Amino acid sequence: MKIYIAPSILAADFANLEKEIKMINDSEADYIHVDIMDGVFVPNISMGVPVVEAIARHAKKPLDVHLMIVEPDRYLENFKNAGAAHLTVHLEACQHLDRTIQAIKSLGCKAGVALNPHSPVSQLEEIIAALDIVCLMSVNPGFGGQSFIKSTYDKVKKLKNLIASQGSMAKIEIDGGVSLENAKGLLDAGADILVAGNFVFSSKNPKTTIKKLKSIS
Ligand code: DX5
Ligand code: ZN
Repeated sequence: MKIYIAPSILAADFANLEKEIKMINDSEADYIHVDIMDGVFVPNISMGVPVVEAIARHAKKPLDVHLMIVEPDRYLENFKNAGAAHLTVHLEACQHLDRTIQAIKSLGCKAGVALNPHSPVSQLEEIIAALDIVCLMSVNPGFGGQSFIKSTYDKVKKLKNLIASQGSMAKIEIDGGVSLENAKGLLDAGADILVAGNFVFSSKNPKTTIKKLKSIS
């Protein structure tokens, strides 16, 4: 089974973003995960559109943009224009999720929905066929470097069944506390994309760490 790796730039050295992005470009990573936090939907503020534009100027891998913001519809076009290839919104932040997903697709981006740890995958029953990505949060969103929530394995299996039952093409992404300790279990449960922040950027050799994650099978 193929696994896609998305290093999370939130854990990078923000004073050396160009260098960090070049490292990802030269690595076996598939995407660059970019966390947008508004201090309202989550208790932290990360970065906005200008920083995503700056990242996109150097990135050779598609930007996987994770919007942890309220009213994401207001900013979809801005993030698309800044260079986002994937736009993932939170189920918990959308009143009219179907409309939001259609808006993302009409911009030409892959459309993703992220679920907080407390949100059941059954809430996606009516929309799963339209999704390109489902991001299961394996920590409560807002901060990097938190511990992986173990009930995620079961959630991945439930989601895999839902995807199969409806012939959806959605990829399963896992975000939060991913490391070599849980990567294989997640792949076996049915995950397709692993986001990894601290595990990659706090390691001695981030490029080798990405290679190791990519090599699990
Ligand atoms: C958490 C973010 C994650 C975070 C992952 O709110 O959505 O993408 O950057 O970082 P680690 O891998 O350190 O948990
Ligand atoms: Zn994220």
